[in-house]
Formats: sequence, structure tokens, C-alpha cells
Amino acid sequence: MDLNSKIYIAGRGMVGSALVRKLQDAGYRSIVAPTSKELDLRNQSEVMRFFRQEQPDYVFLTAAKVGSVQANIESPLDFLYDNAMIILNVMHAALTSAMHRLMLIASTAVYPRDAVQPVSEASLLTGAFEPSNEAYALAKTMGIKFCQYAAQQDPGRFVAVTPSNIYGPGDRYDEKTAHVVPAMVKRFHEAKLSGANAVTVWGSGKQVREFLYVDDVAEACLLLMGTHKGGGPVNIGPGTPTTIMQLADAIARVVGFAGNILYDVSKPEGAPSRTSDVSILNSYDWKPAVSLEEGLNLTYLDFLKRA
Ligand SMILES: NC(=O)c1ccc[n+]([C@@H]2O[C@H](COP(=O)([O-])OP(=O)(O)OC[C@H]3O[C@@H](n4cnc5c(N)ncnc54)[C@H](OP(=O)(O)O)[C@@H]3O)[C@@H](O)[C@H]2O)c1
Repeated sequence: MDLNSKIYIAGRGMVGSALVRKLQDAGYRSIVAPTSKELDLRNQSEVMRFFRQEQPDYVFLTAAKVGSVQANIESPLDFLYDNAMIILNVMHAALTSAMHRLMLIASTAVYPRDAVQPVSEASLLTGAFEPSNEAYALAKTMGIKFCQYAAQQDPGRFVAVTPSNIYGPGDRYDEKTAHVVPAMVKRFHEAKLSGANAVTVWGSGKQVREFLYVDDVAEACLLLMGTHKGGGPVNIGPGTPTTIMQLADAIARVVGFAGNILYDVSKPEGAPSRTSDVSILNSYDWKPAVSLEEGLNLTYLDFLKRA
């Protein structure tokens, strides 16, 4: 990419906004990033029209229907349909345009529930998905296969990346769709304000996860867009595991909640462990710049600004 390249950021949520910030800071002059109201990516003819009109050189496909474990369990059809349509419409329009390269932001949710941990890219489609997010994982896996098939016939134009849990400024805090970090930030903050003496967290707290600050994800995407030649997937993660209990303790510290943290084992908690093998990413000398504690502090400041 050079500073005059036309760059389309599809999806202007947490990751899309971080990419726009990074690109603007680096001096890129031609960035297009319509909102979902301006361009509904489920609409094929609108997407084709957009590509004909804008003719982007590079595309970061961050748009997706994302949500909590509960939201995924309640409406799998929406997660399958929206994500499949977004991926096929944007990637097919890109394929048939003069675009140089597209990066699909997929997710580590595509890997089998029982994959050996830390999960490597090679474990894709070697076992069943985690049932609670099967629909989302199916659509994202289809997108990854699109990148791989396209790489066979047209090398270098499509690449998929698979980030682990992302958090940071611009995250969603509504109960229906919030991921674990924003959901906990909000609940601990409200508990602090109301003087509650306990907060209950879903699951045992022993599940192992990874959390990467959104600016680090954006940096990794920009690096891989320029360096990684294959179709992917390439894992993006911090390389350090965190249990939900450790996360809850850290958020309580950052928010200043001094009460008890209880764990409700009757509630769903997803896969027991999800950590990623980041050897491919690390081979490009990449390391996260923001620690969990620092990232949570920045997230809480953003939450307070928007509350
Ligand atoms: N957040 C995570 O922990 C995580 C982890 C791994 C991978 N990922 C992946 O990373 C990507 C970015 O995630 P994020 O956290 O930035 O999500 P986000 O904040 O929810 O942003 C997603 C964006 O997609 C847009 N979108 C949804 N449906 C659309 C449609 N039909 N047409 C146009 N735009 C549409 C949303 O617009 P509206 O807000 O207007 O609906 C939103 O701007 C996603 O592909 C996700 O699967 C996320």
C-alpha cells in the first residue's frame, strides 16, 4: 500500500475505526469507510455499485454481525445469513474488480472446539465447531476458504486473518451484543456506583482466553496486508493466555469495584480453552504494544466518556 492507495474499510465498528485512525495517522490520504446505514453489505447490487464507483485498491473486510454467546445461541440464522451475505457480496465484488488485495477479518471462533491448544491455523476444519457460535463460525470459515481458493487461482489478492478476543475503545456495551470485556466493564462499573457487594460472572471463570487491544489488532492487520503473501488464515493474538477469573479481577481493579466476584456455573461459558499459536505472525517480528492492564484502563476511560 502507498499513501495514495484507495483503501476501503468495510465496517466502521471497533476494528474498522481503529484501522481508519491508524491509516490517517500514517498519512494515507484516500480512505473510504461508509457506515452500515450508507451501505448495507447484505445488498449485492449496492455492493457492486459501490465497487464500480469507488474502485478501491485495498479492502479490509471488518464488517460482521458479532455478538455475545447468548446472542449467538438465540439467533443463529441471523449470524449465518448476515455474515455469509456480507462476505460473499464484498469478496465477489472485490474479485471481479481491479482491487489489489483484500483482507478478511475472520475469528479464532472458526477453529474446532476440541482443537489442540494453542490452536494453529492448520487445525481449520479438522473437527466440530463450538456449538454456541457454529453459525458465525460457518460463515467466517466460508470466507477463509474463499481466500484460499482465490489464492490458488489469483495468488496474493485475498488473505484471511483470525484474531482472538478484541477489546478497546469503540466496543459495544449493550447487554444483547456485548463481548465479555465490555460486558464486565459495564457491570462492574454499575456495581461500584450502586454499592453492590457482589457481581456474578457467567461460567466457572476457569475458561482460558486471550484478549488483544484493538490498536494492536489494527497494527497486525496492516503489517500482514503488506507482508504475508498467502491466503491465510493467520492468527492474531497476544500469545499470552488469561482466565476469565484473571480478567474479572483485572477489570474490578481498573474500575475500582471492591466487592466479591461470584461465578455461576449453570450459565453457558463457551469452549474451555481458546488460545492461539501466533508463530506465523511472530515470524514478522510482531509483538503487541499494549498490556492487558493498560488496555483495560484505556477501555474504561472510553466507557466513561461515552456513558
Ligand atoms: N470483537 C471481537 O472480539 C472480535 C474477535 C475476533 C474477530 N472479530 C471480527 O473482527 C471484525 C470487527 O469486529 P468489531 O469488534 O469491530 O465489530 P463491531 O464493532 O460490531 O463492528 C462491526 C461493524 O460491521 C458493521 N455491519 C454489520 N452488519 C453490516 C451490514 N449488513 N452492512 C454493513 N456493515 C455492517 C456494523 O455496523 P452497525 O454497527 O451499523 O451495525 C459495525 O460497524 C468482525 O468481522 C468480527 O467478526 C471480532
